[in-house]
Amino acid sequence: MSKHKILVTGGAGYIGSHTAILLIEAGYDIIIFDNFSNASKESIKRVETIVNKDIILIEGDIRNRNDLHNVFTHYCIDAVIHFAGLKAVGESVEKPLSYYDNNINGTIVLCEVMAEHNCKSIVFSSSATVYGDPHTTPIKENFPLSATNPYGRSKLFIEEMLHDLYISDSSWKIILLRYFNPVGAHISGTIGEDPNGIPNNLMPFIAQTAVGKLNCLSVFGDDYDTHDGTGVRDYIHVTDLADGHVKALDIIKDIKKVITVNLGTGTGYSVLDMVKAFEKASGKDVPYCIAPRRAGDIAKCFADPSYAKEVLNWEATKGIEEMCQDSWRWQSNNPNGYEG
Ligand code: NAD
Ligand code: UFG
Repeated sequence: MSKHKILVTGGAGYIGSHTAILLIEAGYDIIIFDNFSNASKESIKRVETIVNKDIILIEGDIRNRNDLHNVFTHYCIDAVIHFAGLKAVGESVEKPLSYYDNNINGTIVLCEVMAEHNCKSIVFSSSATVYGDPHTTPIKENFPLSATNPYGRSKLFIEEMLHDLYISDSSWKIILLRYFNPVGAHISGTIGEDPNGIPNNLMPFIAQTAVGKLNCLSVFGDDYDTHDGTGVRDYIHVTDLADGHVKALDIIKDIKKVITVNLGTGTGYSVLDMVKAFEKASGKDVPYCIAPRRAGDIAKCFADPSYAKEVLNWEATKGIEEMCQDSWRWQSNNPNGYEG
């Protein structure tokens, strides 16, 4: 017997599709709402195969009030997991208004429609990017916040907006999840990260190099103050991340304030650590060369995940080996992503 109906905005995307599986496995009824601006319907078909169940899929845009009204009118929604948004840092510098419109305006419209239908529980996808360049690591939730690009600023504004919403009406239940660097794929190897064009992020770039689609990885800087000079990040398996959302839903009814939680492993790996681990997992070479630092990058970013353990009873379980093995299984089975 299913417990609750959960609306998953952006549920066809990378993190949303993995979360959909865990929600269904935990007994939640879900509705996926996505405009497919950065996803394919094939991902949902594959999720349906994994869970052996049909999924209600609504094609719509969070900025479109009518699209959302229709969903809330037809279904009784208890809570929303809000993944929908644009996420490419570089693109956000080129197209700031598009990022503010999709991310901030989209969230405003979503919250307004939720309130009209008396659905006031939301789990929001924030990001470690809101810590800017942290003064020290590991990063705790109470560290100072800042943003260096429109994408990061959109996450920061939305966090603040949701705090203000709670101040205005304390019947809202709001959980802000700050993700570190999601990588990996479902163990089946049938769903995974499928970026458009040449990947901006490290893990898909490494995976596409290993599979022979790209020639060589540019390592952006080898003179950072880290153990090997290359940038250090907190890579977290997307299935662990997905589990954090299930844990968030488990407590959301009982929270008495806005909860803000880091979802990371607490361990930082460098670019070269990731290259070596991926070569081992795949048995393939990942040729690389050292390139200049990428503008806006920081040396080190990894979480203190202790509050997540305390408040959500959540902790990451999968290590770097599984992250690389699962990413490789997805990439090697689907060299052209969902289109192949
Ligand atoms: P993704 O692009 O794969 O998924 C986002 C989904 O939202 C896509 O399916 C897209 O089609 C949909 N979408 C975008 N705008 C929409 C709109 N206006 N209306 C309806 N649907 C819309 O990205 P992801 O990696 O799964 O990220 C999910 C969320 O997590 C995003 O909010 C992202 O900013 C955040 N996040 C991601 C990372 C990361 O590195 N992947 C890190 C921190 C935070
Ligand atoms: N890197 C390379 N070569 C590449 C790509 C990345 O050397 O081709 C390096 C970067 O310099 C950095 C590390 O690999 O040191 C990770 O870079 P990513 O682009 O994979 O990830 P970021 O930490 O820069 O940012 C990501 C998301 C952001 C999000 C942040 C925290 O892109 O949106 O994680 O969650 F905010």
